Amino acid sequence: MTDLFSKFDPLIEQRRALLDTGVTDPFSLVMEKVLSPTTAICNGRETILLGTYNYMGMTFDEDVIKAGQDALRDFGAGTTGSRVLNGTYQGHKEVEEALKEFYAMDHAMVFSTGYQANLGIISTIAGKGDYVILDIDSHASIYDGCKMGDAEIVAFRHNDIEALEKRLKRLPADAGKLVVLEGVYSMLGDIAPLDKMVKLAKQYGAMVLVDEAHSMGFIGEHGRGVAEAQGVLDDVDFVIGTFSKSVGTVGGFCVSNHPKFEIMRLVCRPYVFTASLPPSVVATAATSIRKLMHGSNKRAHLWENSKTLHKGLTDAGFELGTKEAHSAIIAVIMPDLERGAMMWEALLEEGLYVNLARPPATPAGMTLLRCSLCAEHSSDQVGEILARFTRAGKRVGIIA
Ligand SMILES: Cc1ncc(COP(=O)(O)O)c(C=O)c1O
Repeated sequence: MTDLFSKFDPLIEQRRALLDTGVTDPFSLVMEKVLSPTTAICNGRETILLGTYNYMGMTFDEDVIKAGQDALRDFGAGTTGSRVLNGTYQGHKEVEEALKEFYAMDHAMVFSTGYQANLGIISTIAGKGDYVILDIDSHASIYDGCKMGDAEIVAFRHNDIEALEKRLKRLPADAGKLVVLEGVYSMLGDIAPLDKMVKLAKQYGAMVLVDEAHSMGFIGEHGRGVAEAQGVLDDVDFVIGTFSKSVGTVGGFCVSNHPKFEIMRLVCRPYVFTASLPPSVVATAATSIRKLMHGSNKRAHLWENSKTLHKGLTDAGFELGTKEAHSAIIAVIMPDLERGAMMWEALLEEGLYVNLARPPATPAGMTLLRCSLCAEHSSDQVGEILARFTRAGKRVGIIA
């Protein structure tokens, strides 16, 4: 018998070698109690959270919590069914209405996760004989959607406008083409030149899908994302997003102005063949999305936090993923996995949680400490974060 697990041996060995150094396992931390959007108890110690996607701090918003509690009481714990059978409740319609208003678009379709939204939309609209042209650093859910749909994948170098054009030029003029981009790339926190890329895609007759998972609620005048900020939202055919970041709960969605979009509800397998979100989740999401429409003060504070942290870490001598803050994600580049894990642990001992990211999630084999800021981080907390980073960085020898 061939052990089907033998393919994981290199990873098992790498993990064993890392834990043999005596470092705490960075991939099995438990949040023992969550005190607020920015603090939790980890290993018995109060810890500042700098590695969540809770950009707008909506997880503890009083109106959001109340909406969830009311829905739990009035509609029960779950729907026990697909959206196309018994799983569409009033709350699912309401959250789709909230999304349509948020984006000022005609159609909104809610999935059980953002992963499923990419999986479903990409695999359903781009099938055999079609082409998906994507940035090589695209999220796993985008790649998985391509695989499931069986379209030809054409990858281009990260954020490289010329490389995109070169690929588009080579494709048959009359073939079905979908260009897939992200507003913010989640590993380095850099934004895409969507203004130029969306125009190029249109010039070559391609439809465009933009995943705005990490920009919704924060970037753009109304928080609609990078496409809004760069003035090309009207040319984007499909926007994908998630409730697991700025919205503060779980779920995914696609919004579109395509006149035939509603047919997706019957043909998109990751929408049809799974249970719909629980009523409490859609109620929290709808309330959160409506509040995010009026979040301009929070957006301004989050920008201030992101810029302050970027400048402070640069001044302290850390190497960062971007030259200036493009988003609320600030990636600190580590020399290797071992020192990355040591730095991660040193920060945790200081009472600061960040995400340790490594290949294959990261580009170019990098190990990163990914910091994601929250609109609820106070200026004092950001100052404290910088002090803790500096102390830990000196202790581990990452900075002088
Ligand atoms: C760019 C991008 N798209 C999609 C997703 C999936 O979102 P969800 O957590 O809702 O499945 C993520 C999650 O990290 C993401 O970073």
